[in-house]
Amino acid sequence: MTITFFGHACFQVETGGKTLLFDPFFRPNPKARPGDFETVKPDVILLSHGHGDHVADAADLAKKHGCPVVCNYEIANWLGKQGVGNAIGMNLGGTVKLGQVAAKHVPAAHSSELPDGTYGGNPGGFVVRGPEGSFYYSGDTALTADIQLLAGSGPFRFAALCIGDHFTMGYEDAAVAAGWLGVKEVLGVHYDTFPPIEIDREAALGAFAAKEVKLHLLEPGGRLELS
Ligand code: NI
Ligand code: MN
Repeated sequence: MTITFFGHACFQVETGGKTLLFDPFFRPNPKARPGDFETVKPDVILLSHGHGDHVADAADLAKKHGCPVVCNYEIANWLGKQGVGNAIGMNLGGTVKLGQVAAKHVPAAHSSELPDGTYGGNPGGFVVRGPEGSFYYSGDTALTADIQLLAGSGPFRFAALCIGDHFTMGYEDAAVAAGWLGVKEVLGVHYDTFPPIEIDREAALGAFAAKEVKLHLLEPGGRLELS
């Protein structure tokens, strides 16, 4: 299982013979690495919710690569109007099978308007199961008791958790979530992109270390190999 972080909440996971790309946000992201938008090769795109910092490059990448987009029903309709022919609209609690990999859309406590003001349905995260194990991506969320329920879907090889505060939970709450999930490796996302979500990295690492969890703060383009 190989994870590549592209900045903000955009990352890919190679597992079960597929490259899964989450929340593509390359071109409008001042911290993204030049060229990643051009070179990324997703087999599947997954969108947690409708905000621009999660869907910005979804339509263009889906059309370029002809790949399916797993997202909620409202975002799928919005993508369809932009000529995306293979958006798989689902809703919370549902699972979509993608070959050997299965993605379940799970609740997040957030909001979900699309960039043009269209209603974006409910925000979510994903629990992904595959032959190399499972992982959880929180999407944008507050710390909620719903996350405790997800522990039953584990064990998780890793979790990608928002840690930047202001729009989502901060690293202290995310460390609590990691404890509930029983996960030992966390990819931090949704931090340091804009001033309101800048974090104290040492403090964030310490909050997770106190729970015996390794927090990975990767630079855009950084990779993490989970054996
Ligand atoms: Ni958001
Ligand atoms: Mn966001």
